[in-house]
Amino acid sequence: MLPKIFKFSKYLHSQIRFYSKLLPQPTRNIFPKYTGIFINNEWVKSESGSTFPTINPSNEEVICQIEEGKAEDINKAVKAAKKAFDINSPWRKMDACERGNLLQKLADLIERDRAYLASLETLDNGKPYSQSYNVDLGLTIKCYRYFAGWADKIHGKTIPLDGNFMCMTRREPVGICGQIIPWNFPLLMQAWKMGPALAAGNTLVLKPAELTSLSALHVAELTAEAGFPPGVINVVPGFGPTAGASLAQHPDVDKVAFTGSTEIGREILKYAGSNKDLKRVSLELGGKSPNIIFADCESIDKAVEQSHFALFFNMGQCCTAGSRTFVEEKIYDEFVSKSKTLALSLHDKMGDPFDLKTEHGPQINKEQADKILGFIKSGIDQGASLLTSNKNDYHKIPTQKGFYVKPAVFSDVLDGMDIAKEEIFGPVQQIIKFKNIDELYERANKTIYGLAAAVYTKDIDKAMMLAQIIRAGTIWINCYDIFDAAAPFGGFKQSGLGREKGEDGLYGYSETKTITIKIPQKIS
Ligand code: NAI
Ligand code: MG
Repeated sequence: MLPKIFKFSKYLHSQIRFYSKLLPQPTRNIFPKYTGIFINNEWVKSESGSTFPTINPSNEEVICQIEEGKAEDINKAVKAAKKAFDINSPWRKMDACERGNLLQKLADLIERDRAYLASLETLDNGKPYSQSYNVDLGLTIKCYRYFAGWADKIHGKTIPLDGNFMCMTRREPVGICGQIIPWNFPLLMQAWKMGPALAAGNTLVLKPAELTSLSALHVAELTAEAGFPPGVINVVPGFGPTAGASLAQHPDVDKVAFTGSTEIGREILKYAGSNKDLKRVSLELGGKSPNIIFADCESIDKAVEQSHFALFFNMGQCCTAGSRTFVEEKIYDEFVSKSKTLALSLHDKMGDPFDLKTEHGPQINKEQADKILGFIKSGIDQGASLLTSNKNDYHKIPTQKGFYVKPAVFSDVLDGMDIAKEEIFGPVQQIIKFKNIDELYERANKTIYGLAAAVYTKDIDKAMMLAQIIRAGTIWINCYDIFDAAAPFGGFKQSGLGREKGEDGLYGYSETKTITIKIPQKIS
């Protein structure tokens, strides 16, 4: 039977190069230092005087109060970003390679504070410390370093035109960027937004998710320490309908970059075209990604482990979660039974996220936990088989405090069930049977989403046929959740607009300017 000792950390070790075997001890009793609004490299209070609490999801206790930014605070921040973008500002006059140096310095400072930031992330978000330290911090640091390297390599082209002209393009910054990020990977989502925006020479106002503001505020302080000029980076904590909506509607904001739910993504698109405005928009939204396992995969055990990771990593709170596990009929029963064993073994590794042995922490809040339990109930009601718990006690969160949901596995899942169609954003795996590749062309694509997909097979023909046919922004073959700052990421269909990371992500933060020069026929 499968594996007594499957550990995310061990699996991650084989996948992620920033994994550190020497995990420094976390800091448990943090009283966060930065809880204000960061404008012009200074900490200010909210104009309204209001604050809001941030909660530790593992014990439901208030960690601290945070200044609550609203429209007036967003106005101040956008004004600062606008001034910093003035053509004569230090930022606009700065050499491109110096922008790269500042991003490298920021990465160095995050590296210096890595254990502290990982602890802060675990405190505010609930994710296990070993994962914050290894994955979130590892990828965050790499992301800033990757974009630092781009700063002085943002080239244009020369283009042959008809007639006597010399034509060239320049890539210029878009201007003032409003960036709205979610709570599932707070530091990493900040890096995906700020890294390319700063490399390309923009200024920005970032609004962290109201559930996880603390790590973004610590990084704001580090940007000042690194030496970014005042006003280039402004961070305003606050809620979506107030701070978020004001930022996304602000007439001086040139581009809005958003990661979160598809529902709010649609709102952001509406805002962008309202008020006689037309903003640039990039959206990274939800998913319902097919993860397809053929009988001829290299090893069923490995495919089970990777599919388990694809779904349960980060308590299932991943936009790329492999939440439709399609398994070929011939190996279905074996796959289901092994997946069940593995998910049950994760029940024993649920607990205090600061404990280095913990692999499964709480969900972000009660609302999300309740939503997930609602999906589990719907799965049972619609006839899927729940393998990991007794039907009657299942919905209950364990008696301990915290927003814990036990990892769940469903078999006998049909395409039409809610658990096979909707983004659950929690630790609930759906295992779905298929007979042959032909039916997958339609079934894998039968979703409003198109973020990611994976195929496990040794047959390159099958893998490439599906890689071509599946309408999704990322296809993994014999692997899952490989995230590298160099690889573009984004969605087809309702999973988003535009790409983040990589060269494509960088260009999302630039405007192409075409300059055409008439060349005289002869020198008089
Ligand atoms: P959300 O989409 O409401 O929140 C994401 C960010 O948008 C937060 O910073 C929030 O303050 C902001 N926001 C909310 N309403 C806004 C508005 N009207 N204008 C501007 N900004 C606004 O996501 P939420 O409510 O936290 O989670 C709901 C569901 O969204 C989850 O169950 C999950 O399915 C999905 N989600 C997907 C994520 C992804 O990475 N694709 C991340 C977070 C949530
Ligand atoms: Mg919401």
